[in-house]
Amino acid sequence: MKFIIDDADIAKIKDIYNTFAVDGVTTNPSILAKSGRQPYEVLTEIREFIGPDAELHVQVIALDAEGMVRDGHRIVEVLGKNTYVKVPTTKEGLRAMKLLHGEGIRVTATAIYTRMQAFLAAKAGADYAAPYVNRIDNLGGDGVKTAQDIHDIFRKNGLNCQVLAASFKNSQQVQELCEYGIGAATISPDVIEALIKNDSVTMAVEAFVKDFEGLCGKGVTME
Ligand code: E4P
Repeated sequence: MKFIIDDADIAKIKDIYNTFAVDGVTTNPSILAKSGRQPYEVLTEIREFIGPDAELHVQVIALDAEGMVRDGHRIVEVLGKNTYVKVPTTKEGLRAMKLLHGEGIRVTATAIYTRMQAFLAAKAGADYAAPYVNRIDNLGGDGVKTAQDIHDIFRKNGLNCQVLAASFKNSQQVQELCEYGIGAATISPDVIEALIKNDSVTMAVEAFVKDFEGLCGKGVTME
């Protein structure tokens, strides 16, 4: 499972990137709005930091297919290779996906709430399909199961598309999809931090240090 940061805050991205083995960054218009900066300014900064080989996913704003394609051209022109154009999986979006895919531009189908949206996006040539796990849960559905089913639908139908699960609110959701072996998960920095936060681990490490201090004295290390 690829491990991707869902944020546009450059300080948070740097902090997570320097600690965890990360494969890239996803953004959406709401995430960019939170930064309070010009979109291409912050996106260029992210691209420069993560380097040309990491994945960067950037969403179109236009609602019609032709406008989405124009947005996609500009996104790739400014941010370079390994940039995925995120296209909402609407009827217009499916048309844009076919056109972008036909030009060899990488596409991430986003705003996915149903299995059939994902199927149609994959048929249209999307490289990734992003089901919104927690938002599906909030609607009374089962976000993890939806993402797992989409993974299976792709495999069973021979579709060359990966699940990029998105919209996580807790580590359990991430863990279940990691165990299932889905293609990728994009996770906010706070949920990434929660994956490693564990009081039992902290207590165990503190006990080791205390025992060692009893033997060698405070401040002595293995240096
Ligand atoms: C990613 O593609 C989505 O835009 C994002 O994960 C949505 O997350 P949210 O439901 O926390 O806003």
